[in-house]
Amino acid sequence: MINIPKGTKDVLPAQSYKWSYIEGKAREVAHAFNLLEIRTPTFEHTELFTRGVGDTTDVVNKEMYTFEDKGGRSITLKPEGTAGAVRLFIENGLASSPMPVKAFYITPAFRYERPQAGRLREFHQFGIEVFGSKSYETDAEVIIAASSFLDKLGVKTKLELNSIGCPICRAEYNKALKEYFKPHLDEMCETCRTRFEKNPLRMLDCKEEGCKKFTAGAPKITDYLCEECNSHFDGVKSLLTAQGVEFTVNPRIVRGLDYYSKTVFEFVSDAIGAQGTVCGGGRYDGLVEQLGGNSVPAIGFAAGIERLMLLMENTGASFGEEAKPRIYIAGMDEKSRAAAFGLANGLRKAGCRAEIDHMNRSVKAQFKYADKLGAEYVAVIGESELSNGEVNLKNMKDGTQEKVKFENLLARICK
Ligand code: HAM
Repeated sequence: MINIPKGTKDVLPAQSYKWSYIEGKAREVAHAFNLLEIRTPTFEHTELFTRGVGDTTDVVNKEMYTFEDKGGRSITLKPEGTAGAVRLFIENGLASSPMPVKAFYITPAFRYERPQAGRLREFHQFGIEVFGSKSYETDAEVIIAASSFLDKLGVKTKLELNSIGCPICRAEYNKALKEYFKPHLDEMCETCRTRFEKNPLRMLDCKEEGCKKFTAGAPKITDYLCEECNSHFDGVKSLLTAQGVEFTVNPRIVRGLDYYSKTVFEFVSDAIGAQGTVCGGGRYDGLVEQLGGNSVPAIGFAAGIERLMLLMENTGASFGEEAKPRIYIAGMDEKSRAAAFGLANGLRKAGCRAEIDHMNRSVKAQFKYADKLGAEYVAVIGESELSNGEVNLKNMKDGTQEKVKFENLLARICK
């Protein structure tokens, strides 16, 4: 037998309604916030991610599924949705449409990580990206969109907020970080030593225990923000407060991807183990230009669908009703089975969920099976019913029975 690859998951028929539920809520939020769907390819040129996500990140350095295709091109399965969305924006000239361009996506993503609860090698994200606005209102709107998505799913999380500044104040901060880390460098991991040279901010993202004791006392970015970044951050915070969105400022949030500037945020939960971040995002004002477009500010987030599902399961949140057949139509011989087939076909055309026998079961066994399926009604066509052009309709909830003419069945059960 060939098994499923490590870090991937099947969605079984009995579980798929949970996916539909979460994706349905994502689409509801997207609708309310006037976001239009985009779809980008599952794979892109590797360079998009090395340039976009950043070559000091774990995602690019350790986790990408990269291969050479038969034409000798370096191809990578998307590890996240933002870089592809930016490429789509630039390549299709969306910069010349009225701003902002507000987009959302539901996409698989691939990272070669060590699998554990809530951490997979193939996972799915609901993400939104808003291009063209540098105003803090947009930051607040994007954060509120994430928050209302989580509310709709009935999960409780904490919103942690930070600003990592712009290239100007970040340069000052990086200098301070270098001064702070320099005396400890020999005791820090090799990745941190590389990051010290290339991107000291990323050292704060190190997961090594030996490094964490140094990162804990590092200077805080919030003490180094320039005037513009500070007032932008104040604007975001005051709008969130005015809208009753609770948050804490956590100056240690730097995010795992290099493209961020100014506002960054994460929604975290302690109910799903070590991988507690269910949603993360932030502003990335330099990325469009960095990838070859004009200077276009942008902000977005992505929420991990599997992590959210885990959180919902662990906390007993509702996934709504699993869809059940409205009616099961049972025949007993060739003629009545043909009638059942025709009736089911007609109901289905009208959008009514109808099921019939496929296994040559007796009427008794069909009843049992219909009950297992959770059918709301069972219609039986026996000899006399067939000659009268009617079914014996049983309401499986209250047990009542009645005769219903074939032509009245749809109106009777799918009002
Ligand atoms: P990210 O924080 O790398 O950000 O991922 C977003 C979310 O995807 C995480 O909070 C988590 O829920 C989920 N996730 C990440 N890795 C895994 C994994 N291995 N297994 C399961 N779930 C995972 C981004 O991807 C950015 N593109 C978000 C963004 C959009 N920023 C701006 N716009």
